[in-house]
Amino acid sequence: MAKNSLTRREVLAKAGSMAAAGAVAPIAKASGFTMIKGHSPNDKIVLGLIGCGGMGASNMRNLMNFSDIEVAALCDVDTNRATNDFKDVQNKYGKAPDFYPDYRHMLERKDIDAVIIGTPDHWHAMTFINACEAGKDSYCEKPISHNIQEAVRMASAQRRYKRVVQVGTWQRSTKEFTDALAYVKAGKLGKIVLCRAWISDGTRIGKAKPSAVPSNLDYDFWIGPAKMVPYQSNKVHWNWRWVLNTGGGLTTDWGVHMMDIALLGMSKGLDLVMPTEVSAEGGLFAISDDDRDAPDTIEAVYRFKDPDFVMHWSVGRDHPGKPGHGTEFVSADGKTVRVWRGGWVILDSDGKELPKEEAPAVSDHWREWVDCVKSRGTPKADLQSVAQTTIVCHLSNAALFSGEKVRWDKSAMDIVGGAGKNTSAYHREYRKPWKLPEV
Ligand SMILES: NC(=O)c1ccc[n+]([C@@H]2O[C@H](COP(=O)([O-])OP(=O)(O)OC[C@H]3O[C@@H](n4cnc5c(N)ncnc54)[C@H](O)[C@@H]3O)[C@@H](O)[C@H]2O)c1
Repeated sequence: MAKNSLTRREVLAKAGSMAAAGAVAPIAKASGFTMIKGHSPNDKIVLGLIGCGGMGASNMRNLMNFSDIEVAALCDVDTNRATNDFKDVQNKYGKAPDFYPDYRHMLERKDIDAVIIGTPDHWHAMTFINACEAGKDSYCEKPISHNIQEAVRMASAQRRYKRVVQVGTWQRSTKEFTDALAYVKAGKLGKIVLCRAWISDGTRIGKAKPSAVPSNLDYDFWIGPAKMVPYQSNKVHWNWRWVLNTGGGLTTDWGVHMMDIALLGMSKGLDLVMPTEVSAEGGLFAISDDDRDAPDTIEAVYRFKDPDFVMHWSVGRDHPGKPGHGTEFVSADGKTVRVWRGGWVILDSDGKELPKEEAPAVSDHWREWVDCVKSRGTPKADLQSVAQTTIVCHLSNAALFSGEKVRWDKSAMDIVGGAGKNTSAYHREYRKPWKLPEV
């Protein structure tokens, strides 16, 4: 058994001691050099999972379908969350994975090649940069960060440590999105002047009073670099995305999927077009009897130059005649390509459907990452590219939270001037002792 890991029995039995385990762990020291391990196509890639929640576990199960993957270790700050994953990994490989309450101890292991980062958004930057420092590749969930400064730092870390990173924007690999994108990018819709992306939001997390932290959860570690607030049962697992201390609302949660498609369609390759100006209006107008603080109604407008177009992002109450989420490209002569999870259409200016075309098949999102880890290739949801989409999402929140028009400089990778900088979408003061690593 690896140092600092727990057996299954201990995972289940020692849940109460987790707070201590997390609190005393030293911060992993940056290695200062880049380890690039060569892999032959037949090599097994050994994985660790950080964050055994809904999406982390789902990614792990997708990857466990491949015979050249072995999951060796699990990590979560809540022992209850790892129980099913622990059993599944043990059944699949005939041996129990090691369990770590502190991801830094997992990263110290030399036999682990790569990690899946499935924590809530406020933990992505720390876990990702520490993984880069430890020489691990990663499959990192979206949005890549909780704010703009973290996204910029993560992109630097990936470049410095030369890591292969696929982000969980899996629409980049599914048929309807790739067919629609191929059509738009081939110029078949004509000149595009407007993109729209949207999501409907009716989520309630309910109301809960502060209460005692359950013994299975190391709440201090779960909060990590975010602001310490009293534990409320409705603000942790899954629901954290509607709480601005830990998430960014649906603009980051779904905007990163839907605006990503618009940006890809308007870009030549993975280096995305970026807006020059963003303004946004909205608030928490519809859902008042609830503990969420992320806005439920948002209208954001992005201006792009070279090419000239406008992108409209909406977190809305309804979208009559359309799916509850989606992306549209509108041409100069009023034709539209609309795409959503499950389908796509081409419409003339009267809304009549036009014939579609299929693009060549694309590789599976998870398989592509494994192949790139071996070949040191660049996967299609490379972190450099999804950092740009994530920043586009944060810019909408920066404009909304500040009430200002926010300007972006693509080459400086920063906001121009002060507007929007004094917001949680731009940066955060890390709660001590946590510190965003310098890169
Ligand atoms: N790609 C997609 O379609 C998709 C879908 C859902 C969620 N996601 C993303 O996946 C991520 C996880 O979302 P979720 O819905 O699974 O959340 P979740 O709350 O269900 O799971 C997160 C898990 O991480 C654990 N955790 C928190 N801090 C940790 C730390 N420091 N170390 C180890 N574990 C820690 C939590 O205890 C929890 O078990 C988010 O970034 C989310 O945006 C992506």
